Amino acid sequence: MKVLFLNGPNLNLLGTRQPEIYGRTSLQDVEVMVRQRATQLQVEIDFRQSNAEGDLVTWIQQSRGIVNAIVLNAAAYTHTSVALRDAISACELPVIEIHLSNVYARESFRHHSMIAAVCRGTICGFGPWSYILGLEAAVNLNSALK
Ligand code: DQA
Repeated sequence: MKVLFLNGPNLNLLGTRQPEIYGRTSLQDVEVMVRQRATQLQVEIDFRQSNAEGDLVTWIQQSRGIVNAIVLNAAAYTHTSVALRDAISACELPVIEIHLSNVYARESFRHHSMIAAVCRGTICGFGPWSYILGLEAAVNLNSALK
């Protein structure tokens, strides 16, 4: 089984960016955590970040038929991107929306997700643990499909 993790804008700054909201764990350390759990679960991981909306769209398009699931922290594009929503709809893969912070406890513009309705489910508010829960959700979905 192969899972693609995609990270949107500003997540490259994790660890130093608003640590009171996002914590002090860097994206690299989150990736290490994900890879450790993935090894236990015998899952292959591809882990990427981009600040550019088009990169995320292209990576979702290219993953069709290549990976079994996508775990997506679209960051600010969550709240704005019709392009990402359309890419998710087109890819015919289970996509799991994740966030480090509890977006519902924050500003009202973060309460709406452009992508939630086309994702299999949403995990938010657990810090780096949201990534592990996203991986476990992807594995469970995959075994339920067999
Ligand atoms: C985020 C929440 C978004 O609202 C925000 O724009 C981010 C990070 C999160 O992981 O908590 O950049 O996706």
